[in-house]
Amino acid sequence: MKNTKTLMQRGTDFLGCDVAIMCGAMSWISERHLVSAISNAGGFGVIACGAMTTDLLDNEIAETKKRTDKPFGVNLITMHPDLMDLIAICGKHAVSHIVLAGGLPPKGSIEAIKATGAKLICFAPAMALAKKFIRSGVDALVIEGMEAGGHIGPVSTSVLAQEMLPDIAAQVPVFVAGGIGRGEAIASYLEMGAAGVQLGTRFVCAHECIAHENFKKAFLKGNARDAISSVQIDPRLPVIPVRALKNKGTEEFTAKQREVANLLDEGSVDMNEAQLQIEHFWAGALKRAVIDGDVENGSLMAGQSVGMVKAQQSVAEIIAELMDQAESALAKEKAA
Ligand SMILES: Cc1cc2nc3c(=O)[nH]c(=O)nc-3n(C[C@H](O)[C@H](O)[C@H](O)COP(=O)(O)O)c2cc1C
Repeated sequence: MKNTKTLMQRGTDFLGCDVAIMCGAMSWISERHLVSAISNAGGFGVIACGAMTTDLLDNEIAETKKRTDKPFGVNLITMHPDLMDLIAICGKHAVSHIVLAGGLPPKGSIEAIKATGAKLICFAPAMALAKKFIRSGVDALVIEGMEAGGHIGPVSTSVLAQEMLPDIAAQVPVFVAGGIGRGEAIASYLEMGAAGVQLGTRFVCAHECIAHENFKKAFLKGNARDAISSVQIDPRLPVIPVRALKNKGTEEFTAKQREVANLLDEGSVDMNEAQLQIEHFWAGALKRAVIDGDVENGSLMAGQSVGMVKAQQSVAEIIAELMDQAESALAKEKAA
C-alpha cells in the first residue's frame, strides 16, 4: 500500500529517524536548538558547520547531543581549510551522518569520513557527478534545484528529479531539495523514487529557530518572486549564485563585485583573493541578518518556497502539516 511511511522507509532506515524530512544545514541558523528540535520531532536535523573552527564545532555537537538522543548530521563545506580536523571532530563524537557541501571533496576526505564510521551524503548537481560519487562510495545524495535558498545551481528541482531519480534512486537513497513548501510536493518526489526530501526555508520561522525576529518577519512577508538569484557582473569573477530576498544587501553585492573587479584591474589582489572576498561578503552578510536582525544590509538567503511560509509554528507542527498534506495527496490518488 502506498503511503508516506512505506515510501519513506528507505530514507528513514538510512537516516535512523521517523520521517524522511531533512532540515538542510543553514549557516548561523542550523545550530543546537533547531537541529535538536527537528530530530526530536522525528525529522533529521543537520548542523551547519560553515566557517566554524574545530573548537566551535566540537562544542556545537556536544550541545546538540545534550538536547537530543536522536540522530542528526553535520554539514561540512569542502573548501574549509581545516576540513580534515573537522572530520576528526565528527569522528570523536561518533556523528552518524556527514553532509559534504560546496563542490568536489578534496583528496582523502571521503576516505577519512568513511573511516569515522559516519554515513556520507553529498550534493549531486549533475548526473556525471552523481555517478562519480556513487563509485567513490558516497552513501546517499541530495539533488537540490535552483528554487532553493542560499548557494544554488542552474537547474530546477523538477528537472533534476526527472533526470536523475530514474537512474540513481535504485543505487543510493536520494533526497530532493529546493522549492518544497508543501507535503503534496513531497509525495510526488517520493513517488518518483526519492527516499526523502530536504527543506530549509520552510523551517526558518519555527519557534525553535534562533533567527532574529526581523529575519523571520521578512520571511513571513516575502513572496516567491522576492527570492531572487544574485547576478554576476564581471566575467572574470565567477560568482556562485545565491538566492535571497531582495533588499539593500542585494544591491551592495553588486557594488562589492565592482569594487573587487577594480582591485583586480589595479592588480592589488589576485584572482584567489578576489573570489575569497566575494564569498566572505555572503558569510558576513548572512550573520548580520540572521543574528543581528539587520534585514536591510544583511543577506536574507531564502528559497522561492518563502511564499508558503505563513506563520511561526513549532517544528513539530510544521512536520505534522507537511506529512498530513503528503498523506492526503497519496490517499486522493488511491481513491481516484
Ligand atoms: C538561510 C539559508 C542558509 C543556508 N546555508 C547553507 C549552508 O551553510 N550549507 C548548505 O549546504 N546549504 C545551505 N542552505 C541550503 C539548505 O540546506 C537547503 O538545502 C535549502 O534551503 C533547500 O531549499 P529550500 O530553501 O527551498 O527548502 C541554506 C539555505 C538557506 C535558506
